Order: sequence, then structure tokens, then C-alpha cells
Amino acid sequence: MVQPIHMATTFAQEAVGKHQGFEYSRTGNPTRNALEECLAALEDSRHCLAFSSGLGAETTLMLLLKPGDHVVYMEDVYGGTFRLFDKVLKRFGLTFSAVDAADVDAVENAMTPQTRMVWLESPTNPLLRVVDIDAVSEVAHSHGASVCVDNTFATPYLQQPLHLGADVVVHSSTKYIGGHSDVVGGALMTNNEELAKLLRFHQNAVGAVPSPFDCWLLLRGVKTLSIRVERQSQNAMEVARALQDNRAVKRVFYPGLDAHPHHAVAARQMRMFGGMVSFEVADEAAALRTLERLKIFALAESLGAVESLAEHPARMTHASIPAEERKRAGVGDGLIRLSIGIEDVADLIEDLESALA
Ligand SMILES: Cc1ncc(COP(=O)(O)O)c(C=O)c1O
Repeated sequence: MVQPIHMATTFAQEAVGKHQGFEYSRTGNPTRNALEECLAALEDSRHCLAFSSGLGAETTLMLLLKPGDHVVYMEDVYGGTFRLFDKVLKRFGLTFSAVDAADVDAVENAMTPQTRMVWLESPTNPLLRVVDIDAVSEVAHSHGASVCVDNTFATPYLQQPLHLGADVVVHSSTKYIGGHSDVVGGALMTNNEELAKLLRFHQNAVGAVPSPFDCWLLLRGVKTLSIRVERQSQNAMEVARALQDNRAVKRVFYPGLDAHPHHAVAARQMRMFGGMVSFEVADEAAALRTLERLKIFALAESLGAVESLAEHPARMTHASIPAEERKRAGVGDGLIRLSIGIEDVADLIEDLESALA
């Protein structure tokens, strides 16, 4: 019932070139194989490759591109994804255009003959905007570009982008897949045989692979993915409604709310609306004061675990995005992002209401 942790770095061979499928653990490891099979099944994909972090997965995928290639990406992607594009990959001759991919025409207008990839996040971090993955994939494919969806916020339980036309899915499995704030990991999933072969080669060549112990932790954590995410989504819905009614709150961002501009798309492509809620208070001072007063919500980066977290995107997760670009994308100084856990929702709402009072 429980996958062993194969700590071996190397595997004895019967004769030169004759072995049981494993030679060296960067190339392949039985515990990692088990994790990859499990995550492929969850995302309903033919292939999955596991990595040592979400960014390790992203970097490995992007290294399939070559100088001169152009990438169109959703403007409020995770700050670390932006940093990878802007500070690392640009130096290797890739070019990038940020668009509001919730607007399909904006994606169409950004496409050039050099565009090889459209990079989406849905719901986005931290504004919970929702992209019509089906419609954007159609546009990207008509220009010969492939579509990668960062499915970290939704999880494979709530949304399966490969069924909506995407070519590759990326996860920071550090988040909901692990679910317990105790392991950093990443994954790529695809149904494309050619792409899977290239990725398998690059997984070994680049080397950002997870340890067998980390694979085991992920296998253990993911067993409860569906019940955790259901509870987190139910809690998040109630928290979002309570925040909507709070006079200290200027705006609530949650795709489950009828007032959310992309609610209809979210309802179509997601099973529930997820455990992430963001909201805006008057200004930075009010946001920092609220964060300091919270007692049940821990002030911490990351998300997707059983315990509730709160953070200030402008000063924490999204600090690597230049202030001007951040503000243009709508990530203001009064914004607070919540990762809703599995606690009693009445306690969570009470905590927020007293911190906002
Ligand atoms: C949406 C999203 N994608 C990717 C990442 C990067 O993953 P990791 O921290 O596992 O490298 C994160 C991390 O916060 C994230 O929130």
C-alpha cells in the first residue's frame, strides 16, 4: 500500500547494458516513477515528469526553446515565473510579451511569427483572474504556438487543462499536491509523445530532479488531495462572501463570486473555485496592520496546505516584479492574498473580521 523510498543513487547491473530499468537516480528512480505515474493519472495525461521544484519544472520546459523564440504570457503570473522569464531567460535570447490573457483578443494581437509558446496561469496569482483555456489554446494553435498552463492554483482535481486544449501542464507540487507545507516539488504533464521524449531527455540533462524522499512525501500528501481541495474551496467561498460584506474591504477577488468578471468561464472549466482568495483594503498601511493582527492565518508565503496563510503580494511573493509593472497588472499595495486551509470556517471568518475591525 505504500511505495518504498528507494534512496539508491545507483543500481547494480547484471551485465553491461543489462539491467532492470534503473541505472542512476538522476535518470530514473522507482519512487520517482511511482510519483510520476500517480500525477499523470490525476491530470489524466499520458506522461508526467517530476522535478525538484515548480521552477525547476518551468526552467526545464523553457530550455526547449531557442534564441529568437517569443513567448506570450499572462501578465499576473507568479512572481518567480516572471523573474525566470525576465532575469534569466531573456539573457538567452528569448523574448516575452505580457498580456491580459483573460482577453482572448489581447492574446491574438500579441502573437508574432516567432511566438512558440503561450504561457497561462488560471486562476492567476494573486488576482484570481480566469483564462478561457479552450479559447486561448485555439488562438495559440492557429499561430503554431503551444500552450502551457500553470495549474498550481486549480489542482488536477478542479481543472484539467489538457482536456481544454493545452499542450503542457506545469505544477508547483509544493502547493496543493503536497498539501502539508513540508516538501518543495514540481511536475510537467503532457499527452504529446514527441514533447514527452524531449522533456525526459532534458529532465536528465538539466538535472532538476526531486529526491526519492520528496517523491514519497508527495505520494503521501496527494492521497487526500480531493478532500482537502473540496474543504478549502467550500471554506474559501464562505470567506469570500464574508469579506464582500465587510466595510473595510474595498474589493474581493474570488472566481466563485457571481460578481467576479470571469465567473462564467470559471464555472465552465473548473469543478469548484479553489482555495485562494485575495482582497483589497484601503492602502499598504491597512494591509500590513491587518496581516499583523491575524491569529489563525499565519503570515507566510506559499499556499495550498492544510493550514491557512495570509501574505502581502507587493512586498512578498510579487516583490520581484517592478512596482510599475505590478501596479499595471492590478497588484496594488493594499492587496492581501489568502490561502484558505481546512480549519473551521467560522474561526477563519472571525479571525479576518477582528483583524479588519
Ligand atoms: C502558481 C505558481 N507557479 C509556480 C510556482 C513555483 O513553484 P516552486 O516554488 O515549487 O518552485 C509557484 C510558487 O509559489 C506558484 O505559486
